[in-house]
Amino acid sequence: MKLLDKIHANAVKLNQRIVLPESHDERTLKAADIAYEQKLANVILIGNKAKILKNAENLGLKNIKHIEIVDYDTYPKIAEYADLMVELRKKKGLKKEEALELLKNPLYLAVLMIKAGDADGEVAGAANATGNVLRPAFQFVKTAPGISVVSGAFLMFVDDKQFGEDGLMLFADCAVHPNPDAAELAQIAVSTGKTARAIAGIEPKIAMLSFSTKGSAKHEMVDKVVEATKIAKKMAPDMEIDGEMQADAAIVTSVGKKKAPDSKIAGDANVLVFPDLQSGNISYKLVQRLAKAEAIGPILQGMAAPINDLSRGCSVSDIVNLIAITSNQAGRK
Ligand code: ACO
Repeated sequence: MKLLDKIHANAVKLNQRIVLPESHDERTLKAADIAYEQKLANVILIGNKAKILKNAENLGLKNIKHIEIVDYDTYPKIAEYADLMVELRKKKGLKKEEALELLKNPLYLAVLMIKAGDADGEVAGAANATGNVLRPAFQFVKTAPGISVVSGAFLMFVDDKQFGEDGLMLFADCAVHPNPDAAELAQIAVSTGKTARAIAGIEPKIAMLSFSTKGSAKHEMVDKVVEATKIAKKMAPDMEIDGEMQADAAIVTSVGKKKAPDSKIAGDANVLVFPDLQSGNISYKLVQRLAKAEAIGPILQGMAAPINDLSRGCSVSDIVNLIAITSNQAGRK
């Protein structure tokens, strides 16, 4: 069975409540309709009920009328959520009237539903920039225990099966944290190792990438990766993590043997951790376009509950896939 099929089958078994705040987006409505049809999740739409049902009718979507719709104007828990927000942002001095105003934004209402236990995960970003999706999540859902930095991993499927695990690799961070320090980079590595196990079902072999392999170059940028490797190994002694190493040493067996002969993973890595967001984001897009890799993600990791951010150029099937992945993440918590 292909990995995506497994993820879909697992989502059906887990039956998680996944909230979709962008109900005005046509692709999101179509994805909700498919998710209901395929029983991938118990999807919840946020928005004006009459408008959603009218749009669904115009699009010929048969299932939307069976899906739970949360409408700010009629939802009975708005005041309760506002109190919770005030409590959670006490130190920041958030006032109840400000909280009520924020809740009119479906991206805030969605994370409060998760925080209050009324939903298990969220998929958004088809109609909103990354920052607008992530900020409410950072403020109210926050990070998982032991993690202070959220990051984004991609599952990369390349045709050439000699790379990674039968052509499957994870790349991170490609989506969230612009310039991690060594400790944060170590957390990104460990979070990605966990995603490799939980979502891809593979045992991670993590390469901490740099423009240097095992001291071949000296620079403070290299020092950061060396330090991050040390910290990550301490954080997760049960994971194979090595670095610093160049990308060719990480994924090409002959080069790995030459440049890092003592490494257990050089030449065979299936998780690539980039030193910063510029290199990670550029790399995944180049591999996607030049090598025609299928890129699934970003899968956000390190958050206390699964909240995933789509690209605004996403297709309906990208949204359906991310609903299934989010259900898998939620079901494992
Ligand atoms: N992990 C956890 N918490 C974080 C993180 C993080 N990576 N970054 C910020 N926060 C928290 C802060 O601690 C703060 O919490 P507080 O309000 O309780 O004090 C809150 O989030 C807001 O922090 P700001 O510094 O104000 O963060 P800001 O909102 O300015 O930026 C953001 C956060 C939006 C994620 C920013 O780092 C960003 O724009 N990153 C790049 C996103 C992007 O454009 N990616 C590329 C496109 S995606 C793609 O191509 C697939």
